[in-house]
Amino acid sequence: MNRDNLLVKQPFDPGCYTEQVNQLLERMTVREKVGQLNLDHVSDSGDLTDCNLGERSSMEAEAEKVRRGLVGTMLMKGREEANYFQKVAVEESRLGIPLLFGFDVIHGHKTVFPVPLGGASTWDPQMLEEAEEYAAREAYADGINWIYAPMIDLCRDPRWGRVAEGAGEDPLLGSLIAQAKVRGLQTVNPETGYPYVAACFKHFCGYGLSQGGRDYEECETSPRTLFMDYMKPYQAAVDAGALSTMSAFSVLNGQAVTGSRYYLTEVLRKQFGFRGFVCSDYGAVKELVHHRVAADRKEAAAQALLAGVDEDMGSHAFADYCEALYEEDQRFAEAVDEAVRRILSVKFAVGLFEFPYFPEEAEKYMLAPEAREAARNVGRHSIVLLKNQEKILPLSPSKKYFLTGPLSDNVEEMPGAWAQYHPGTNVISVKMALEEAGLDFLQSDGCPFTGKYCFDSQDDSGFAKALKMAEECDEIIYVCGEKAAWSGENRGRVSIDLPKQQYRYLRELKKTGRKIISVLMCGRAMSCQELAESSDALVLAWHLGTEAGHSIADVLLGSYSPSGRLPITFPCYTGQVPYYHSWLSSGRSRESLIRYKDGENGPLYPFGYGLSYAEITYDAVHISRNRWKADETIRLEVVLTNHSEMDAYEVVQAYYQDVVSSLPTPDRKLCGFTKILVPAGSTVKAQMLIPVERLALMTLDLKEVVEPGEFILFVGRDSMCGESARIVVE
Ligand code: BGC
Repeated sequence: MNRDNLLVKQPFDPGCYTEQVNQLLERMTVREKVGQLNLDHVSDSGDLTDCNLGERSSMEAEAEKVRRGLVGTMLMKGREEANYFQKVAVEESRLGIPLLFGFDVIHGHKTVFPVPLGGASTWDPQMLEEAEEYAAREAYADGINWIYAPMIDLCRDPRWGRVAEGAGEDPLLGSLIAQAKVRGLQTVNPETGYPYVAACFKHFCGYGLSQGGRDYEECETSPRTLFMDYMKPYQAAVDAGALSTMSAFSVLNGQAVTGSRYYLTEVLRKQFGFRGFVCSDYGAVKELVHHRVAADRKEAAAQALLAGVDEDMGSHAFADYCEALYEEDQRFAEAVDEAVRRILSVKFAVGLFEFPYFPEEAEKYMLAPEAREAARNVGRHSIVLLKNQEKILPLSPSKKYFLTGPLSDNVEEMPGAWAQYHPGTNVISVKMALEEAGLDFLQSDGCPFTGKYCFDSQDDSGFAKALKMAEECDEIIYVCGEKAAWSGENRGRVSIDLPKQQYRYLRELKKTGRKIISVLMCGRAMSCQELAESSDALVLAWHLGTEAGHSIADVLLGSYSPSGRLPITFPCYTGQVPYYHSWLSSGRSRESLIRYKDGENGPLYPFGYGLSYAEITYDAVHISRNRWKADETIRLEVVLTNHSEMDAYEVVQAYYQDVVSSLPTPDRKLCGFTKILVPAGSTVKAQMLIPVERLALMTLDLKEVVEPGEFILFVGRDSMCGESARIVVE
């Protein structure tokens, strides 16, 4: 095969390998074909977890399965183990077909980057693309060539624990990030000319709609909203060349996705043009039985296969029944062949037939200084300054601080959800970083996490000692928020506020009369009204990963002016969710009518919100003309001036409103953004390109149409910014 040619085209286009794949397919027995559709799960202890069916076997027994061609992919990590199984597959199985080793590398691997929702606060897809390059290299060094990421489920309900894994509420921000992450993960390894890993975007589709924040629950929205918003990031990931995707567990608009030919074939393949393979989520095939759309695992396998699932993770249903199905009915035989083709194509596309093994030298990527530096940088760009009364931040070297709170010297929780690599080791806490920086401070947790779930701790025994220490200091830094395990899979919350104990402690701190700088760590949007009101400054730090402490110290100490912006609305109360900026227009405006009899209408902090240490002003927005055609791209310019003595990044955001259209549209919706450095005391011109097609509306028959007429553009620093211009689309 001439790889040079392929490199010129697109090295990882699965469509390039039809000939090789068909030749191989012709030589395969039915059993070997079915083997390719089977994923086995090998735990860290070397046990074959074998798909929740209660079977356990050793590495040796698993190797025997590989030798017999009964396994196509594995869920595991570990370079030596992977090379061991790969050697068996390549050298000892009849056809020598290499294995894909898949693993969840959701926000970095050994070097942990901010949780994805935090990363989305950077509003910097390019930076996130680079972060994924580090993740891909570290994963590769650890025997992984297939990554179950990016998670790109749009979510507007922060009760759902998995909101931490995605990019928040907005389809445009979510799509640009999805694309960047796919590209970053599928970075080409210069040593081989192939990507380090294949990406697997997930969970196709609509999983972020889980009702009430209850994971695995029914997902429901109108088809119009589904395609207008929720489908956008998936389409973007397909466009970016993602080599695989994972079918969602959920029932979406009345159909179990993993058994739905409509979603997995009609939409994903025919409409979006997806050319990789579809892996089921863990156990999703057998869950078709729980959804009561299949009588047993055999029927479930049949349904999933015909729907368009190619690889069965966690159900062992394909392995157990596809051979029989193959013989029974031509439709299944064709579906199996097609699924094998897709999986083999991806194996070719990541170069496994030429470079099946993971070289030892790749170990150099693990926790490399550049990776840590990148994590620190993404971390500081992810931090959102929510409040800074009387410019209490940055911290002053002449003051003495009391550093306190359950997360003030904590390494365990910094990595956040889905940090799979020994969370807690190699991690920098806030205390460690402030010490390193030479700040004058005392520290005591005051209210550590205790109790089974730590939500309801009654243990106030640390308060007295801590409050005494607070009296000895000028100001308080209160590092509070969620444990890592409060977000992620199956980690919903009924209240998205701080736990009561952290509030009891905050009230005591407040009584000292000291000013309070709160640092909030979490994996979701929080309705932390009391925290916001009681704090003089509020810094949203999410779960920032390995370098968390350094990133936070950089911002607190003012060596970096905060530039993060909320990728999701922070509501005032849990009862307001779902709450997001691009709601469809209402007959009665939110401003003029109190909807809740016991609370505010508005958000605590709107989408796009975030403060800076610098004072940056916007001049009038300039658009070259005001009449546009649907296939043109609007160039928009705005001059920014930084009046302070500190360099700062600014995220310039553009929203639009379609003044009159055939169907209700949002009052405003994001249509463009750019992040730009505005050096101290200088003036810069920010430019933004907005394709007019972004102003399209979704029709009831799910077509995107830019309807002629007037549009209002709002340009500024968050979703509440004022009107800037009006344009006409002809
Ligand atoms: C999750 C997926 C994950 C898979 C494998 C499932 O429970 O929903 O996101 O990739 O497990 O770990």
